[in-house]
Amino acid sequence: MLYHVTLTINGHRYEGDVEARKLLVHFIREVAGLTGTHVGCDTTSCGACTVLLDGRPVKSCTLFAVQADGRAVTTVEGLAPSGELHPLQQAFWDQHGLQCGYCTPGMLMTGVALLERNPSPTEDEIRRAISGNLCRCTGYQNIVKAIQQAATALAGAAGDRRGGSEA
Ligand code: FES
Ligand code: FES
Repeated sequence: MLYHVTLTINGHRYEGDVEARKLLVHFIREVAGLTGTHVGCDTTSCGACTVLLDGRPVKSCTLFAVQADGRAVTTVEGLAPSGELHPLQQAFWDQHGLQCGYCTPGMLMTGVALLERNPSPTEDEIRRAISGNLCRCTGYQNIVKAIQQAATALAGAAGDRRGGSEA
């Protein structure tokens, strides 16, 4: 039996008829064709598949597509819709926060969600936030630095906006 699923991903509508067992990550990659979201373990362990579901980070191999029916998903492609890097992507670049890059989409989505709910996290809070995202390459130090850089950049941008609106 197939179920009709409709999702908004990065602001665009995607529909498909899927089996009940189809994982959200497979809907994103195969139906929507957005392959920036990686599959590492398929068992909720590595975090490579992390996306935002209605703004909250979830491991998309942990949900069935039917559970996300009617909801809004943001994937790594949604961070740079016009091609200009998101401040966190720029920070990963600047701080060498990746090597093979396999964990990076999930790290970015977890980092973006952290900075949304806590714009100036401590190092401990950053490490706690990314504790569900495994990286086999970097040793995490530069990922932490990247999130710290992005927090500073986003705070500066918010300050500029406030200053501009007061002028
Ligand atoms: S692929 Fe989803 S947690 Fe590893
Ligand atoms: S950069 Fe290779 S797994 Fe993180």
